[in-house]
Amino acid sequence: MEGLEVRGLSKSFGGLVVSDNINFDLRPGDRKALIGPNGAGKSTFANLVTGILMPTRGTIHFDGHDIGPMREAQRVKRGIAKTFQVTTLFPKMTVRENLRLPVLEREGLGFTMFRRATGSAEIETEVAALLEQFDLKDLADRQVADLAYGQQRLVELALTLALKPRVLILDEPAAGVPSSETHLITDAIANLPDDLAVLVIEHDMDLVFKVARSIVVLVQGSILTEGTPQEIASNAKVRELYLGAGHG
Ligand SMILES: Nc1ncnc2c1ncn2[C@@H]1O[C@H](COP(=O)(O)OP(=O)(O)OP(=O)(O)O)[C@@H](O)[C@H]1O
Ligand SMILES: [Mg+2]
Repeated sequence: MEGLEVRGLSKSFGGLVVSDNINFDLRPGDRKALIGPNGAGKSTFANLVTGILMPTRGTIHFDGHDIGPMREAQRVKRGIAKTFQVTTLFPKMTVRENLRLPVLEREGLGFTMFRRATGSAEIETEVAALLEQFDLKDLADRQVADLAYGQQRLVELALTLALKPRVLILDEPAAGVPSSETHLITDAIANLPDDLAVLVIEHDMDLVFKVARSIVVLVQGSILTEGTPQEIASNAKVRELYLGAGHG
């Protein structure tokens, strides 16, 4: 079976059950969103899938292989990536220079030693394609520190795509981005390669309903429901949850 298959995944921190028997599938081409209140366990789930955290119980298969025992770096090599954080960008370097790093890293040429180096023609071609894909061409030679926050988050996305992932997990890609810039993120997600499997964790419901074709609702570590955006929008329990949160 192609893609991710999560079965019976559980994680506890001490006595606190943060992931409770989660079953979840993500296939090539999927556009899923994971939503839920603060502390529901969304980031924990992402960290279990990417190998940052190890589960208490349960299995994770990718393309039929049990990746449960694998560490994060091995899972990245297999194609499971979570977006970089803005804090991993080099602020004094240009967008183009930042983008060379994951390409060099992926090619096994090292991240830090070569960080000032100009890449080979192939690397420059690949960087140019990423700049084009994420509409960053005009900003290519600007320092990351000079960019608007929404643009920095775009660079972060482009950096992750340079790893050529097959599964991409975005944990709050629009967090901290002013609403005037969220369209940059929404458009970038909409333009991701068709065959990529995408899971977006996000509180911005406008973004969620624009990019997701399926929405999973997590509450206190358990999946409450999964459905199409229409199904989720009209689900009484989900409405109660969000109206409840919104009105104290
Ligand atoms: N390393 C840890 N040790 C102990 N408790 C943790 C740890 N990481 C997370 N938690 C707890 O697990 C619960 C779920 O946290 P998590 O960050 O996964 O939630 P979330 O759904 O991503 O929330 P948010 O929407 O605020 O990002 C919270 O109660 C959190 O305090
Ligand atoms: Mg979180």
